[in-house]
Amino acid sequence: MTDEAPATTTKSMDDIMSLCKRRGFVYPASEIYGGINGFWDYGPLGAQLKKNLRDAWWTDVVMRGCNGKLGPDGKPVEIVPVDTCIIQNPKVWEASGHVAGFNDPMVDDKETKQRFRADHLFGMYLVRPEEGESVDQGVARLIKIINEQPFELPYGPNLSCVASNEEEAFGAFRAAMHRIKQDITRVPDAAVATSFTAETRKGEECFGVCYQVPMSFMKAHPTWIPSPFNKPDKAAALELDNRKSDSQLTEPRAFNLMFKTYIGATATEDDVAYLRPETAQGIFVNFKNVVDTTRVGVPFGIAQTGKSFRNEVTPRNFTFRSREFEQMEIEFFCHPDDAKDWYVFWRDWRMEWWQGLGLKGENLILREHDSDELAHYAKEGAGTSDIEYRFPFTAPGFGELEGIAHRTDFDLKQHEEHARAKLKYFDSTRGELAKNGQPKGEHYLPHVIEPSGGLDRGVLAILCEAYTVDESRPSPEFMKFHPRVAPIKAAVFPLVKKDGMPEKAQELHSELRQKFGHLGAIEYDEKQSIGKRYARMDEAGTPYCFTIDGDSLTDGTVTVRDRDTGEQQRMPMAGVAAFLGEKLGV
Ligand code: GAP
Repeated sequence: MTDEAPATTTKSMDDIMSLCKRRGFVYPASEIYGGINGFWDYGPLGAQLKKNLRDAWWTDVVMRGCNGKLGPDGKPVEIVPVDTCIIQNPKVWEASGHVAGFNDPMVDDKETKQRFRADHLFGMYLVRPEEGESVDQGVARLIKIINEQPFELPYGPNLSCVASNEEEAFGAFRAAMHRIKQDITRVPDAAVATSFTAETRKGEECFGVCYQVPMSFMKAHPTWIPSPFNKPDKAAALELDNRKSDSQLTEPRAFNLMFKTYIGATATEDDVAYLRPETAQGIFVNFKNVVDTTRVGVPFGIAQTGKSFRNEVTPRNFTFRSREFEQMEIEFFCHPDDAKDWYVFWRDWRMEWWQGLGLKGENLILREHDSDELAHYAKEGAGTSDIEYRFPFTAPGFGELEGIAHRTDFDLKQHEEHARAKLKYFDSTRGELAKNGQPKGEHYLPHVIEPSGGLDRGVLAILCEAYTVDESRPSPEFMKFHPRVAPIKAAVFPLVKKDGMPEKAQELHSELRQKFGHLGAIEYDEKQSIGKRYARMDEAGTPYCFTIDGDSLTDGTVTVRDRDTGEQQRMPMAGVAAFLGEKLGV
């Protein structure tokens, strides 16, 4: 991928999804039965792309210990892998807080049966300018309305979005969504944004303010439903969505996101178990096992990749919010005094890592959380941040790709109490000095820094970043994958299906397949015209195509075509493997 990442704002998610389906990256799960909401299958190209991303993470993080970057203690980073069960003893989820607290507040639209997250409903007011009123005066009037709300606006009045035409309205609406730093993918945008357009399309000037109700307020006032639904300012506000009123929405209810199942044949309430909502807990409950059975010592990390399951209220935006998805998680254990340094280390290194895979430029940002966004296990002041990507459906805003959190000793402490297990770590390198000058040692519960990434979201970001349209090419759509993640690494073609060219091409194909097959597919294709074969490979994101032609048979050279430039050059067939190896970085 080039350094100038194409703006995702100009990419169409529908076009990306259609290419994904057509070329076998992603299919709707159980499609022949009409699909199932929130579940997706990967086709041949998608499965390899996903494996390449998982492998890159595994290799760089675990096997190469952050690619050899020294930790803040000046030593190599130590990480070991585990692979733990999806179903754990249900007490694990009681201790972790998921049984009691892994809830989303949910409201149902009684008429349409649509379901929304109550805390993600956006309030929005639109007002027409009054006669002689300037924009500033109109905004001031709006801010007054907002300030009369029964809660304090958390982010100040400068979040107002003001628009005088349709285009501006949408831009301002989305920008405000982004500025209030919420996950806009959960906004019932059909309910709010469409009405916004409808009003402005009539050609009437209007001002708008949108805001999100703070979670703390929702918790304190569980039956309060945000405007426009309860319309506190009926006179001034244009009705954004007349279909909805508070009586049309149910009161918010807590909805636990964990998938329940039953173990054994009796299936009583005593047999309830849960599909894990995060892979992290499998690591925490094995902390002592790893310390006891390996030579690792604090500071060190335990890493795993694997499926997690969440019964999301509103799965949406392709694979972005699915009910079954894969995570790549590291729990890094360190002394509490060192947690801040390790947090900064991980936050910065994880950002570098995603950039190294081609997610560059203005499409990728690192965002520190505000203190009111912290999860129950995260420590105030010590830091929690998200690496966010500008997906076409969030643009100009961003969606979370990976979170880096200081989880303190929350989880180990919880498991220590609930399991009555001794999880304190004995650190012989710390503590007061004894008479012999050696440290006496210290018992403590390590703090944890957790970089937790979504594999499916990573794949989606890579797909969106790679998707490129260039109308000047024979096949205008192509995928500019970084060679490391490209599912097909190279293709070999005979120019025509005769004169000994197929045999020579198969020879080269076989050599490359044996040398590079562990990294991805090496394709052989002799069907259709050479132009069509190049176009097919461009859509699959294959970085290099090697073609055997008439000259190859006499002088032993081949042409290599570069996907991104379309340029071709001749090289000795004997040098192809070395050339490809260098390009793939092996
Ligand atoms: N152990 C911490 C944890 O699970 P999280 O922010 O809930 O934190 C971590 O999840 C990552 O998992 C997210 O950054 C995201 O990439 C991915 N993820 C979470 N929910 C997801 C969903 N419903 N669909 C796809 N990916 C999801």
